[in-house]
Amino acid sequence: MNIILTGDRPTGKLHLGHYVGSLKNRLELQNSGNYDKFYIMIADAQGLTDNFDNPKKIKDNVLEVAIDYLSVGIDPNKVNIFIQSEVSELTELTFYYMNLVTVSRLKRNPTVKNEIKQKNFDKSIPVGFFCYPISQAADITAFKANIVPVGDDQLPMIEQTNEIVSSFNRIYGETLVLCKAMLPANKIAQRLKGIDGKAKMSKSLGNCIYLSDSSEEVYKKVMSMYTDPNHVKVEDKGKVEGNVVFMYLDVFSTDDSIKKYSDYNSLEEMKNHYKHGGLGDVKIKKVLYNILEEFLTPIREKRKYYENNIDEVKNILKNGTKNARYAANNTLKDVKKAISINYFE
Ligand code: TRP
Repeated sequence: MNIILTGDRPTGKLHLGHYVGSLKNRLELQNSGNYDKFYIMIADAQGLTDNFDNPKKIKDNVLEVAIDYLSVGIDPNKVNIFIQSEVSELTELTFYYMNLVTVSRLKRNPTVKNEIKQKNFDKSIPVGFFCYPISQAADITAFKANIVPVGDDQLPMIEQTNEIVSSFNRIYGETLVLCKAMLPANKIAQRLKGIDGKAKMSKSLGNCIYLSDSSEEVYKKVMSMYTDPNHVKVEDKGKVEGNVVFMYLDVFSTDDSIKKYSDYNSLEEMKNHYKHGGLGDVKIKKVLYNILEEFLTPIREKRKYYENNIDEVKNILKNGTKNARYAANNTLKDVKKAISINYFE
């Protein structure tokens, strides 16, 4: 059995970083058909653990993220999309798993450590936030998922999940299934830089190109991209390393698209011209803009369809959630039975 589960916190619209870092991989998996079940979870309950004071943000983004999924081509007939908070079994499982994890173990989780710093939780850590790795173990094990496609920042969560699975099975008998992370193949894609070239594309840094951006927005953002600060005149020699335009071309262009939108036969040829001088930034930016537009146009069209048919989106989520609940409920029954708290069975 291959059961795939992955998810996103609905804290904002999805951007190109999400596309190359996870959505692309999910589409390939979906189209490979090489699995028995495939779940994608909108992790609103986890999103609340660090946004409990702003539930509207989470709520509004549940639909945004669902539309993002559908617009890029996630197919609800192949993939079960669901809303975490509507599967209350996950919360119940979390409660039993809490017995199997120590506070010091949670404190050692590097991803949690980083987030505590980022969010200034140093002085007082909300318990809910502190425990989210345990809740994530519930998300994964509830579906007996063995494959979890994630970015490398999520590896500590997978490790924590497997520790819980091992403890549970040792103490209560073989019940839960171990899982493996599936990392995106392409290293650049895993950490697509923002348009400022400084850090990973991220909403809080304001350096994103969103899947839902209009042509005008994309144009403006591409024109403002970080290139080579020493490449002032067209004749100047330019640097390709660290140049965001070339980074994106590496990820999004093909020989065909380079031929279509530039005077070059390949990206290598274009890079060489830039390195030797004589190729201006506006020119390379226009090539990238056209290539991104070709990629984003069909996504925008699908988005428009779903925005005009919100009830269809809600129905997809409702059905997906119903299926997810059914599966999670079976696991919860197994878990309670293993702990021998299945009183009325
Ligand atoms: N922690 C993930 C993120 O921040 C979201 C998530 C919640 C998740 N539960 C999961 C991912 C289970 C994979 C499996 O993006």
